[in-house]
Amino acid sequence: MDLNPLLPNNGDITLITKISGTGSALPAKILTNADLAILVDTSDEWITSRTGIKERRIAVDGEYTSTFAVEAARQALSMAGILPEELDLIILGTVTPDFPFPSTACIIQKELGAHKAVAFDISAACSGFIYGLSIADSFIRSGRSKKALIIGSEVLSRVVDWNDRNTCILFGDGAGAVVVEASEDQSGIVSTHIFSDGTCWDLLYQPGSGSRNPAGIHATDPNLFFIRMEGNEVYKHAVRAMEEAAMAALNANGLTASDISLLIPHQANRRIIDAITKRLDLDADKVFINLHRYGNTSSASIPIALDEANRQGRIKPGDLLLLDAFGGGFTYGSALIRW
Ligand code: COA
Repeated sequence: MDLNPLLPNNGDITLITKISGTGSALPAKILTNADLAILVDTSDEWITSRTGIKERRIAVDGEYTSTFAVEAARQALSMAGILPEELDLIILGTVTPDFPFPSTACIIQKELGAHKAVAFDISAACSGFIYGLSIADSFIRSGRSKKALIIGSEVLSRVVDWNDRNTCILFGDGAGAVVVEASEDQSGIVSTHIFSDGTCWDLLYQPGSGSRNPAGIHATDPNLFFIRMEGNEVYKHAVRAMEEAAMAALNANGLTASDISLLIPHQANRRIIDAITKRLDLDADKVFINLHRYGNTSSASIPIALDEANRQGRIKPGDLLLLDAFGGGFTYGSALIRW
């Protein structure tokens, strides 16, 4: 049976990017909405009705972005049956690296012993994983890479203002990873579409730690190091952009939403996901949601959800998955995958 009539076939060798392993890692510490109501003037009822989030995971002392990334990567490598030294590419999406430099991907490379890999971070906020997947797909289709690791990992709890009820309720920590391989199979990444719109960069950003507000001059103001967000405006842009990214994937492949087996959207807010589900006219049972347990883990949210869906048996061979992301920048994008 031809599992994937959508994939190009231009003769003897058509390299497809196949996902051969998934993994995820979350901190053990849970912060519930009731715990938050002790810190700021909020309630479980408000957070649940406005966001759908019930609890999130929080890193403790000694746990960093690389800690969760390495654990998620090991799981994905184990599922794929690949040794770290076989990897030739490691891409980490993150806005909360261990340090501004070197790239956290290099720290992960060392921890894994993936000495042959080229390793780098990309800063695309909550779209970081989809951007990474798109870059890895290009490397593999062009023959420059054969076995790659793409990770989204964040410790957002370290850049959240725990006195700001507008933002601190939304975010959580964790990591998700996939291993992809060049394959001549019929299954794999059908297409990726990534977009940027820098006109609204200041609706969601972290002012401090870069060249505009360097430590030393401004270090006395800790507020500079916290996430700043215009929640209402971001919400509207997120719905529009995620619809656009999803439609780009469908239109490029002559599909409609009814062809999709499972939508895995960025897990920012239940109301955003419900709005997109409605706009795409998609059955609610074809949408994977886990944000009630983890909140918004930025670049980690889609690979964590993908790993959970995979391990729960929600994805079957031949299924058509649509991953759909949106984040600060603004950045947004989609990936269509024949499993
Ligand atoms: N608990 C109780 N009240 C809160 C609150 C909280 N945690 N946070 C804000 N409020 C209050 C506000 O102060 C405001 O009060 P006011 O009317 O007296 O001024 C009121 O609730 C309404 O605030 P508003 O910002 O209009 O709420 P909202 O319905 O837009 O929900 C968000 C706020 C942040 C949940 C919503 O805008 C959102 O999810 N935006 C997208 C954010 C996001 O996903 N960012 C990441 C993108 S990758």
